[in-house]
Amino acid sequence: MAINLQIKELFSKAEELSQTETEAQVQGWIKTRRDSKGISFIELNDGSCLSNLQILVVEEKLPDGLLEKLTTGSAISVNGILKKSLGKGQIIELYCENLELLGTADPETYPLQKKRHTNEFLRTISHLRPRTNTFGAVFRTRSLLSYAVHEYFNEKGFVHLHSPIITSSDCEGAGSMFQVTILPLDNVPKIEASGPDKGKIDYSKDFFSTPTYLTVSGQLEGELFAQALKNIYTFGPTFRAENSNTPRHLAEFWMIEPEMAFCDLMQDSKIAEEFLKYVITKVLNKGLEDLKFFNEWVEKGIIDSLEKLIKADFARITYTEAIKILESSGKKFEFPCTWGSDLQTEHERFLSEEYIKGPVFVMDYPKEIKAFYMRLNDDQKTVAAMDLLVPRLGEIIGGSQREERLDILEQKIIDNNLPIDHYSWYLDTRRFGSTPHAGFGLGFERLVMYITGMQNIRDVIPFPRTPGNASIN
Ligand code: 4AD
Ligand code: MG
Repeated sequence: MAINLQIKELFSKAEELSQTETEAQVQGWIKTRRDSKGISFIELNDGSCLSNLQILVVEEKLPDGLLEKLTTGSAISVNGILKKSLGKGQIIELYCENLELLGTADPETYPLQKKRHTNEFLRTISHLRPRTNTFGAVFRTRSLLSYAVHEYFNEKGFVHLHSPIITSSDCEGAGSMFQVTILPLDNVPKIEASGPDKGKIDYSKDFFSTPTYLTVSGQLEGELFAQALKNIYTFGPTFRAENSNTPRHLAEFWMIEPEMAFCDLMQDSKIAEEFLKYVITKVLNKGLEDLKFFNEWVEKGIIDSLEKLIKADFARITYTEAIKILESSGKKFEFPCTWGSDLQTEHERFLSEEYIKGPVFVMDYPKEIKAFYMRLNDDQKTVAAMDLLVPRLGEIIGGSQREERLDILEQKIIDNNLPIDHYSWYLDTRRFGSTPHAGFGLGFERLVMYITGMQNIRDVIPFPRTPGNASIN
């Protein structure tokens, strides 16, 4: 019986397999074909790893007319014998006994030509984009990272919580939510009865009998479960209807949000640091072939910088210190930064890239620029917030200790002009056995960008959703 393995597995067993002549079957897509003296050399890739398996085909063994159809991009299944390779660069190769052409790819119209394509062009061909070396490597790395995230939290005893995607409350209080409705947009029902609500939209006729949205964060729901299970995390899609057309923003992105009861801001930042180092170590250990590719073709020196990061102690400074550093930097920024203003990407990058030269937690931000749920510090001016800033990217994690005191939290909801009656379920967590608790959110695509060196967030998610674009491409 022929063994049927992914090419990655074949290579991992290459030493052993090269000792014996094993019968094997492989399937994949042709990267290139080169013919020489009656032998055809096919480079086959099946997406399981970056490397191709070389297949040697004796041309006269093929049925008439088949060889010409074995063009770049076509799908084939090959049976043959694995032998020690005589050529350089690979340990084993497959001597073809039988070849089946499963799907042709017309060389006149196949969009992936030998030349290097731009990432923008590749975004327009979603199903072929992952066949390129770069995007194959990106999406394998993304998958490995996702696994590492679950592995870390599982090892630490965190409970994985599936928070809802449809919600009726705005977690971040920023108002940039996508509405979910079945009301007919061209004929929205209005309240007819006389009274203060006359003429307003009649949500009693909508699916949930109340306005609903796609979630911007699973945090609030996460907090509820942390008040019973102590340490939980969510990992799901989140949605923001911000009109931010930048290389760092998506309208649909994935976020990892742990929430820990009996935890303060400092412990929160230590968990964030340990977690980030864990997942990066995993990729350095298990995803090195793809990382080497990024190191050579996407971001020179990236392996070195990741290795430095896992050994470094992350710096911690306050927002107030950050502002002083920025003000005395002598650097001209596009946006001003004075105490009370939010940090822009240029400020964040300066702090981590040029000043600290590594990851830095900025803590204790002015309460006015942060969400309502963050814990008010004793100075009454700042809240127990933290952002982790990293070189090349700026903010990668945002987190905080949460306001566990009911009266202060109620006041903050009112001060933030949020409808307090929508938050009663949340406020209840502060009524019955409230605990000091904290958590953070890591933007998964920002993490993939950081580790691969890819410059545009659209290139690390399979189907990017950005303002003006939700097509399959
Ligand atoms: O700082 P943010 O808005 O924090 C929250 O949502 C909190 N509820 C997290 C928590 O404490 N549980 O978002 C967290 C992270 C950011 O640091 C960034 O990495 C990423 O999510 N992020 C985005 N990524 C891609 N596109 C966007 N539009 C993003 N907005 C935030
Ligand atoms: Mg943030």
